Amino acid sequence: MRTLKVALLGCGTVGSDVVRYMTRHAADLTARIGAPVELAGIAVRQAGLPRPGAPEHLVTTDADALVRRGDIDVVIEVIGGVDRARDLIMTAFEHGASVVSANKALIAAEGAALHAAAAAHGADLYYEAAVAGAVPLLRPLRESLAGDRVNRVLGIVNGTTNFILDRMHSSGADYPQALKEATALGYAEADPTADVEGHDAAAKAAILAGFAFGTRVRVEEVHREGITAITSADIDNAKAAGSVIKLVAVCERGAGGSSVNARVHPAMIPSGHPLAAVRGAFNAVLVEADAAGQLMFHGPGAGGAPTAGAVLGDLVAVCRNRLAGVTGPGDAVHNRLAVSPMADVVTRYHLGLDTTDQPDALAEVAAVLGRHGVSIATLSRRHGDGGFSLTVSTHHATDASLSAAVRALRTADHVRCVTSVIRIEGT
Ligand code: NDP
Ligand code: HSE
Repeated sequence: MRTLKVALLGCGTVGSDVVRYMTRHAADLTARIGAPVELAGIAVRQAGLPRPGAPEHLVTTDADALVRRGDIDVVIEVIGGVDRARDLIMTAFEHGASVVSANKALIAAEGAALHAAAAAHGADLYYEAAVAGAVPLLRPLRESLAGDRVNRVLGIVNGTTNFILDRMHSSGADYPQALKEATALGYAEADPTADVEGHDAAAKAAILAGFAFGTRVRVEEVHREGITAITSADIDNAKAAGSVIKLVAVCERGAGGSSVNARVHPAMIPSGHPLAAVRGAFNAVLVEADAAGQLMFHGPGAGGAPTAGAVLGDLVAVCRNRLAGVTGPGDAVHNRLAVSPMADVVTRYHLGLDTTDQPDALAEVAAVLGRHGVSIATLSRRHGDGGFSLTVSTHHATDASLSAAVRALRTADHVRCVTSVIRIEGT
């Protein structure tokens, strides 16, 4: 029985747990694959750091030499970043290896080129861990739902921001403290801007749209807003409205089905909605399909051990393919659907406004919204600070109409300030 050789690129939060579980589950992995797997080398950036559990003789700072060895069956890439990771993976394909990655930034940016290279070299490229950590999502979308038609995907796909918003909502923690905790727990990206500004979730949305609709969505085509503008007043407003604020990713087909859109932004979710109950660094994704109806995938979305579990699942699949002399499914993209701009997306807004206490203030707000084709679903008003504090939730309208209405409200005679603008999902 031949032994399959694995090279690990990166031994940080995820990589160190890959080593730990490869060692701990060695017998099961052998049984499931049908052959033993051997860790042949571990590439890192800095020499001499303590790396508990990682055999010292395997650790190298020469990642290039490791992927060029020629006897490596599978390269696991968990270094992160785009350029260096892409170059190492391309070299790995050229030298006969298949690749497992957890790197959503890379796959969203370079997925097409990487899949083409994998196909050209008869290799596999798997990346289940890149979206929603431990939650099996890409494989079900590509395989279990291959006979169905997915219309919409709505989910929480970033653990760090969910952790922060959950802390702000449940314990009144402040944003910097919650981010510090998420980083210490290994949830955040090397640069947490990627999390809090929505880049990480946007990369995942681009990948998800590809798997859900079989079409290429570039990460630049994903509308992106992060959570840095969310204040404790927004959290309080959400509570008052019986909702919670979550950073959501939405991928949906446009009317008629010939276009898609993908977006990432904070949204108010009613507290009875399944996504509202997603706590800490957990992720959850609701998939709506023609035949299956609504499916929900839920579980740990970040952290070393959960992500390592997903990486090792891919490792088993790739090793099995290798032993059978086959490759698994390649690029999920087989359609060319147009990506519609955010302006065309139909959504709902929650608005917070400070108005004067004049009798016609309310009428002016309603008139401005009406002029832009936006109708009011609920409205509440209370006295405060010499005027009124107004909370409005709108009915559905295009994002172009809603944002034009907000711009007009900012300059309306009786509106002193637009205090919050947050989209509403899950109603
Ligand atoms: P870390 O920053 O904890 O670890 C990165 C590792 O890669 C470190 O060991 C680092 O070496 C090594 N590394 C970085 N650059 C190089 C390089 N040029 N050459 C060789 N080694 C290098 O990151 P994570 O483990 O958190 O994340 C890794 C990947 O997994 C990222 O793509 C991330 O998006 C993804 N991911 C992370 C999750 C998480 O919860 N953390 C969840 C899902 C996916 P050194 O130790 O010497 O600094
Ligand atoms: N930083 C990412 C998150 C890691 O918080 O979701 C998992 O992809």
